[in-house]
Amino acid sequence: MNQAIILAAGEGSRMKSSLIKVLHKINGKPMLQYVLDATAKSGFDKRYLIVGNNKNKVIEAFSSDESIKFIEQKMGPGEPYGTGYAASLAKDYITNDDNVLVAFGDTPLVNEEILKSFLSFHMDNDNNLTILSAVLENCDGYGRIIRDNADKLLKIVEQKDANEEELKIREVNSGIYCFKGKDFLDSINNLKNDNVKKEYYLTDAVAYLLSKGKKVDAYISKDQNIALGVNNQVDLAKIEEIVRKNIVRKWMLEGVYFKNPDNVYIEEDVKIGRDVEIYPDVILEGKTVIEDNVRIYGYTRIKDSHIAKDVSIESSLIEDSYIGERTKVGPNAHLRPNSKVGKDCKVGNFVEIKNASLGDGTKAGHLAYVGDADVGNNVNIGCGVIFANYDGKKKYRSKVEDNAFIGSNSNIVAPVEIGENAYVAAGSTIITTVIKDSLSIARARQVDKIDWVKNKKNMEEEK
Ligand code: UD1
Ligand code: CA
Repeated sequence: MNQAIILAAGEGSRMKSSLIKVLHKINGKPMLQYVLDATAKSGFDKRYLIVGNNKNKVIEAFSSDESIKFIEQKMGPGEPYGTGYAASLAKDYITNDDNVLVAFGDTPLVNEEILKSFLSFHMDNDNNLTILSAVLENCDGYGRIIRDNADKLLKIVEQKDANEEELKIREVNSGIYCFKGKDFLDSINNLKNDNVKKEYYLTDAVAYLLSKGKKVDAYISKDQNIALGVNNQVDLAKIEEIVRKNIVRKWMLEGVYFKNPDNVYIEEDVKIGRDVEIYPDVILEGKTVIEDNVRIYGYTRIKDSHIAKDVSIESSLIEDSYIGERTKVGPNAHLRPNSKVGKDCKVGNFVEIKNASLGDGTKAGHLAYVGDADVGNNVNIGCGVIFANYDGKKKYRSKVEDNAFIGSNSNIVAPVEIGENAYVAAGSTIITTVIKDSLSIARARQVDKIDWVKNKKNMEEEK
C-alpha cells in the first residue's frame, strides 16, 4: 500500500501569529491542504498526520477527511523531538511492503505531478529510500545533499551541522522521502540524536541505510519551488505569489485578458470563460464561475457566485449569487447571499440585494435595498426604494409582479404584494396589496398655503 506520513507538529513560532502555521492560508486554502491534496491525488490513500500541541484546531479543520489519521506528538521540555522521531510515531501503521512517503505540512508547493514521478522513480529503481531534492539559489536553512565524485549520494547534512565546503552545495533536501516500509521501520529504530540540535533527524536514514548496503538515491526535481517551506510571513507571501501567478497565467493561456496580471487574486476552484476582461484589484473566490465576455472592473470581489455571459461589473461585492446575461452591476452594488438577478437587468449605484430574485429586464438603478423579495420581469425600482423586511423580530418576504413600477423613495413594508403593471407613487409607504393595473399613493396629500411666508413676515412686523 502507498501510505504517507505528514509532519505538522511544529508550533511555527516564527509566524508570530495565534493561528497555527499549517492552517495559514495560501490563496484561500490552508497550507496543509496543499500537501493533503497532492498526496491523495498521487495515490497515497492513507495519510498519517502528526499533530502537536495545537492538535485540536488541525483536527477540526480536516476531520471530515476519513483517509486521514491524526497522531499526536507530545511537545515540551524533555520530550523527544525531530523529524525522525515525529515520523516514527506512525510506525504501528506501516508494514514491510508499503511505500512510505514522508512529507512536511509546511512545504505546500508539492504537487500531484512531482509526487507521481518521484514515486515511479523510487519504484522503477527498486530503491530502499529515495530523497526528493532540488537545486536552489538560496539554500539557507536547508539540509545539503552530499554526493561523492561519481555523484553517488552519501548523506544529508543539516545546515547547522555542515562545514564550509558543504554549505556551498546548492542541492538541498526538500524534506520529502519515499521508503520501503521495511527500511522505514529499520531506520527509525536506529536514529540517534547526536547532533548540534539534539534532534532525531529523519535525514540520518540516508547514511544509515547506505551503511547497511541499501539502495538510496536522490531524485532532483525540475521544479525548484517544491522545496520551498514556510517558516515566517515572508516565506508565506513568497509562496502565495507563486501560486497566485500560476493561476493567473493558466487563465491567460485560456484566453482571459488581464489589464494588470500582477494585481488580481483568483482562487483555485474559480472558472473563467473566454474573452473575459479583468481589471486591477479584482478578487475571485470560492466556486465562482465567470462565463464568456464578462467584464469586471477594479475593486470588485466575487465569492461563490455565477456570472453569466456579457455581464459587466464595476466596483462591487457579490456573494453567493447568480447574475444573468448582459446585466450591469455597480458601481458599488452589494449582492448578498442567495440573490438571483435575471438577464438584461441593472443593479446600479449603491444598490443592495439580499436573498431576493429580480426577473429579466428589471432595473434598480440607485440607492435601493431589496431584501427578501421576489421581483418579476421588467420591474422598475426607483431611487431610494426600501423593502422593509424586518420588524425587529422576524423577517418577511414580499412579491412584486411583472412590469410594476415602484416610484422613488417608497417603503415596501413586508409582507406585501404589488400586482402586475401596478404603479406605486413616489414617496409611498406600502403596507397592503397594490392591486394589478392600479396606482397606489400612500403618502400625505400636498397642501399649498399661498403667501404663507409673506403673511408670517407681516405678522411679525406688526408686533
Ligand atoms: C528539514 C530537514 C532538512 C530539509 C528541510 C526542508 C531534517 C532533519 N531536516 O529541516 O534537511 O532541507 O526540512 O524544509 O529533517 N516536525 C514535527 N515534529 C518534530 C519536528 C518537526 O512534526 O518533532 C515537523 C515541523 O512541524 C515541520 C517539519 O516537521 O512541518 C520540518 O521540521 P523543521 O524543524 O522545520 O525542519 P527543518 O529544520 O526545516
Ligand atoms: Ca522548516
